[in-house]
Amino acid sequence: MATRGEFSSKFGFVMAAAGSAVGLGNIWGFPTQVASNGGAAFVFVYLVLTFVLAYPVLMAELLVGRYAKSNSIDAYPKITNYKKSAFLGVWGTLTVSSILAFYSIVGGWLMAWALHYFTSLIGLTAIAAWLVEFSFERNILFTVLFSILTLLIVRQGVAAGIERWSVRLMPILLGLMSILIVYVGLQRGASEGWSVFIFPNFSRVFDIDLAISAMGQAFFSLSLGVGTMLIYGSYLSKSENMVSIGALVALVDVGVAILAGALIIPAMYVAQASGVDILDGAGNLISGDGLVFTVLPALFDNMRGLASLVPIGFFTLLLVAALTSSISMLEVPVSYITERKSGDRAKACYWVAGAILLASLIILLNFDALFGLVVSLTTEYSQPLLGLFICVIVGWFWNRNQLLEEIRLGNPEIEITLFWKIWPVYLQFVCPLIILLLFYHSFQS
Ligand code: TRP
Repeated sequence: MATRGEFSSKFGFVMAAAGSAVGLGNIWGFPTQVASNGGAAFVFVYLVLTFVLAYPVLMAELLVGRYAKSNSIDAYPKITNYKKSAFLGVWGTLTVSSILAFYSIVGGWLMAWALHYFTSLIGLTAIAAWLVEFSFERNILFTVLFSILTLLIVRQGVAAGIERWSVRLMPILLGLMSILIVYVGLQRGASEGWSVFIFPNFSRVFDIDLAISAMGQAFFSLSLGVGTMLIYGSYLSKSENMVSIGALVALVDVGVAILAGALIIPAMYVAQASGVDILDGAGNLISGDGLVFTVLPALFDNMRGLASLVPIGFFTLLLVAALTSSISMLEVPVSYITERKSGDRAKACYWVAGAILLASLIILLNFDALFGLVVSLTTEYSQPLLGLFICVIVGWFWNRNQLLEEIRLGNPEIEITLFWKIWPVYLQFVCPLIILLLFYHSFQS
């Protein structure tokens, strides 16, 4: 078997894992959820759930990966000594592949919109108009282009592809975002947006539906359950301190979500100040694709001169975020096929990307029936359920001494830390209970 890839530095790993975590979930999903769930109340619950629920699961996944040093399907049997536990990897791989199928469609839209602003800037109005029409031809063309970009990076391997590109793209993302936040913050109307974003409506903090949305958001945003973090963990050196590295990834992810909120929510109020409708019929802030493809473009249309670069910057930002995430998704099935079947990464990439593209095509052909369904099944149900299983397997079936040995590598003092006193028990009891409770309520309502 070919030798396994490995991240070449801690910085490289953090950029890649944070690149996976930071994606449309942060820059689009999070502000959207904030808009539709009572502003800062959602921010508060999301932060709590990320640290009490998602971070512990993230640690579990990273550790399973680094211990097993294998793809996600072969990893679980190594810690449980129970062959059938491979189902968890199989289920995760299918889930992440389905997520990538719809994610590539959205990635394609972002490319089309970025190009729209570019082509209208240079006067190609007909092309510019076509680029933002919701046509099957446009959708499939750009889904294919986005998939090719993803494939080209993953084909180059862990250090030369995923790491190299994450290290380049993540700073670009942060730079673009900072410029946009400052620019939008200086516009008329922005301060009202800031206050919605900062002051919670406390009556909604204990809303159970809000908590369920926040849980889904936290799992999606940290790329949990499906093997993405597991596989990245498996490319980490045994000399790294997992506890701090995991915390760093979670912090960057949350930080970028907050920054994105600080960009988008004020931007909505700037749009309002210039006459754009930002409330739907029921008086709630417009969210979802209406926000990204209607409200913000209405704002952008008023921008002239140098400001017309803002929308290009904005959609490029989204595209970059999507790309560092999509590569981490593709890596899950690709690593399995490379390790188990062919040993040939390039070939595995073509086959897997082709199959996922086929799934995207099926979704596009039945868009109204399938798109929302796939999003909801994979992210609201499959991911948290997988998270539940991971807690149970790591908490109950992984030999505690073996787990301690693994986590001690790179962190020799771990036994006397608070983390080790709390986390394992927490993973055994508290996390599964929270997930079950939230599920129970979501079926009740
Ligand atoms: N976390 C990314 C985002 O916020 C998306 C992502 C990457 C993902 N890998 C994943 C989501 C695996 C679920 C599962 O957009």
